[in-house]
Amino acid sequence: MFYLKYRPQTIHELDNTQIRERMTKLLDSKELPHALLFVGPKGMGKTSTARIFAKAVNCDNNIFSGNGTSTEPCNTCANCTTIDNGGSPDVVEQDAASNRGIDEIRKLIREASFSPMTGRYRIYIIDEAHMITPDAFNALLKTLEEPPKSVIFILATTNEEKLPSTIISRCVRFPFGTAQSKDIVSMLKRIAGHEKLKITEDMLTLISNYSEKSFRDATKLLEELVMQDKLTFDDAQNYLGIRSKGILLEVMQTGTLAESMSWIEEFTETGGNVKRAIEDSLNTLRLQLVAKSIGNTSEQHLSFSLKELSLLIKLFHGAYANLRISPIEALPLELAVVEFYNARKK
Ligand SMILES: Nc1ncnc2c1ncn2[C@@H]1O[C@H](COP(=O)(O)OP(=O)(O)OP(=O)(O)O)[C@@H](O)[C@H]1O
Ligand SMILES: [Mg+2]
Ligand SMILES: [Zn+2]
Repeated sequence: MFYLKYRPQTIHELDNTQIRERMTKLLDSKELPHALLFVGPKGMGKTSTARIFAKAVNCDNNIFSGNGTSTEPCNTCANCTTIDNGGSPDVVEQDAASNRGIDEIRKLIREASFSPMTGRYRIYIIDEAHMITPDAFNALLKTLEEPPKSVIFILATTNEEKLPSTIISRCVRFPFGTAQSKDIVSMLKRIAGHEKLKITEDMLTLISNYSEKSFRDATKLLEELVMQDKLTFDDAQNYLGIRSKGILLEVMQTGTLAESMSWIEEFTETGGNVKRAIEDSLNTLRLQLVAKSIGNTSEQHLSFSLKELSLLIKLFHGAYANLRISPIEALPLELAVVEFYNARKK
C-alpha cells in the first residue's frame, strides 16, 4: 500500500514543512530533549516522524555517532534497519490505548532506566498518550523530571487537551497541525515519481482537496485512483465528486426515493466503489449520532433525527455485512435505502 511503501524515511522526505523545519533545527542543535510531544490529527505523520527521529539519533553513519556531518538517518546501518522493521530493542512503540495503567507505565519506566543495547538512546514512542490514567501520568511525570540520561520519550496524541499541563510543560512540543495543500501535493509528486505515473499538477491539487487535509488520506486516494484507472483530471473529478462524503445521505435527507436510487445507479455506473460509499456514510452517520447525542450543534451537518440516524446506521451496517454474499454489488445498499424510506413513511 502506498501509505506504507512511501512512508517518509528521512527528515528531508517529511513533506510537512513546519515539522521538517523544526525537526531539522532540533537535530542541528544536538541538544536533545528528554521528552517530545507530537500533537495533531490522524495521518499527519506523528509515527513516521518519531521513527525518523529514533533512527537519526541512533544511526551509526551520521553526526550522532561521529561519522560525518549529516543529522539524517542513513537507513542502511544495522541500527536504522532494525528500527525500521520494528526489531530494535532500544526503540519501543507502545499504544497507550491498551497499556494505560500504572502497572504498565511503571514497567516501562523500569525498562527505560536500562542502558541502550545497540544504539545510543532508548526511545519510547507512546501513541495516544492522552489515554494514560491519572496515576500513571503521575509516575511518568517523576521520570520526566529526572529522566535517565539515555532515554527519550515521544508522546503522540490526537487529543492534547486531555493531557495534564504538568506533562505538556516537560516536553518539547511539535504541533503537526493539518496538512497544507502544497505539502500534500509535494508528497503526491514524490510518490507519482516513484510509481512512474503521468499525473498533472491539477489532478494532484484535486486529490489534495478531497483528502481532508491528511497525508494518509491523500496517499490512499491516489492509490484508489490508480487502481480504478481514473488518472485523467476529468475521470478523477467525476469519480471523486460522486463518491465524496455524505452526498448520498444528503440526497436521502431531502430527496425522494427515486432520487436516492438514481444516485446509486449513477454512482455505480461511473465506477464508484459501493463498499467505500457505505464506509463513508457510516463514518458520517456515526459523527452525526455522537454530535446529536451530546448536543454539539456545530457538528450537526445533517438534519436526521436521532431515531433516523440509528435506523440508518443499522441499515447501512446490514448492507455492509451483506456486500460479501450479494451477487450484485449495489443491491444491499439499494435495499437499505428502500427500507429507510419505508420506515420513514410510517
Ligand atoms: N510529513 C509527511 N510527508 C509525507 N508523507 C507523510 C507525512 N506524514 C504522513 N505521511 C503519510 O501518511 C501516512 C501516515 O502517517 P503516520 O502513520 O506517521 O501518521 P500518524 O500521525 O502517526 O497517524 P495516526 O494518528 O493515525 O497514528 C504515512 O505512512 C505516510 O504515507
Ligand atoms: Mg501513528
Ligand atoms: Zn543508519
